[in-house]
Amino acid sequence: MRAKLERDFDRFKRELPRDFPAHVRQAYRIDLTARYLGELVPHPIGKGSGQLSLNAGQLEDDAAAGLAFAVLKTVIAEDETGARTMAAWAIHETKMKVERRPVGGGRAGWTVTWKGRGWDRTFTDYLTLVRTGRDLTRAGRLLVVPSVKYHLPRLAEPFREGEYRYTTAQLADAWREPPLLVEKDFSPTLAGDALADDRPQILRWLREVPARIHAASPIPARVAVKLMNARFDDLFQVEMMDACAGADTLVVFNRLFDAERGVAYGGWDLSDRNLRVLDAFADSLSARPPDRRLSGTGNIHSGRMILDYARCGCDSVQLHTFFQLPLSEYPATHGSRPQRALHALVFHPRDGLIAGILDLEARGELERHGGELRFLDLQAHAHRAG
Ligand SMILES: Cc1cc2nc3c(=O)[nH]c(=O)nc-3n(C[C@H](O)[C@H](O)[C@H](O)COP(=O)(O)O)c2cc1C
Repeated sequence: MRAKLERDFDRFKRELPRDFPAHVRQAYRIDLTARYLGELVPHPIGKGSGQLSLNAGQLEDDAAAGLAFAVLKTVIAEDETGARTMAAWAIHETKMKVERRPVGGGRAGWTVTWKGRGWDRTFTDYLTLVRTGRDLTRAGRLLVVPSVKYHLPRLAEPFREGEYRYTTAQLADAWREPPLLVEKDFSPTLAGDALADDRPQILRWLREVPARIHAASPIPARVAVKLMNARFDDLFQVEMMDACAGADTLVVFNRLFDAERGVAYGGWDLSDRNLRVLDAFADSLSARPPDRRLSGTGNIHSGRMILDYARCGCDSVQLHTFFQLPLSEYPATHGSRPQRALHALVFHPRDGLIAGILDLEARGELERHGGELRFLDLQAHAHRAG
């Protein structure tokens, strides 16, 4: 197995087979099937919402590379008159800087420094992109999911129903066939905003927002809530997860916020915190409904890191920074960044997904069923640990 992995790693440096999950299943008897927002996908690796899912060309490259899913850039909700309460998030900014972010223990991760926020073109343009995503999804080439930032009121204020109704109805109209899948973003810049100073206010949003999106959709919908890293302690992160019981999936957790520099950041600080909180959450999993779905995000740059998130209950992962590194950082010599990233994440002989899963089997932490090791069994493991 190990020798085969070395060989595959080398030969796929030039070109990754489009249907690599079928190859992994046949050659290693490993079933990488994963799940995002209730949909089964051929493997766990998707693209998180952001600057890498802004246009049809990027989606086409993702489909060609064989990503499991892509979440579109977050659009700011509007009502039928075009009014947007969260308009402060629709600012235009193109410059991004990919840089090293060192932390203690000599570990140097990567972060993307960027001052922008949400989608900065028209809602009509966004709906055109949603239709492109719908066609890729229908063709079975790439599961595409829109992302929205809806109105979030202060504690004493009502929700702007008009923004929820109009935006969701337009997305449903563009998508046409149920279910409508939608991600709701609670972003790091929101975490850094005065709106998020108040814990009861945040918990009210999380209790009420999923039901409002479900109610606003004219067709059956599934809602993923992407939780922020709030500026409170780890326990509050778990409280937020509990408050959000109406969501079909939780995406855990968006980037940290550096208040001094006024920017969001990632790297090891982010994955350390996310995994620590997920561990605390998994500890009490036995008391939670088993259908609680998690999708991990934050500093995922190796198959081993995917397994760390999976063992905390995540049945898929969403990356951004790892799709943006300088080309010299990928072991592959040819192909698009999503292809090179998948090559390293899956086939790296030491840190890849296959190597990590074989190690878990060797340690007796994952068993074969019908001769196969299954990625989705890792979540059951998280439950048993609880
Ligand atoms: C430049 C940039 C823009 C982003 N924009 C969004 C966004 O609009 N909506 C959202 O939900 N997440 C956004 N994210 C967060 C990413 O989707 C991802 O969850 C986060 O960066 C953590 O993953 P990573 O460490 O792999 O980058 C953005 C991230 C970056 C770096």
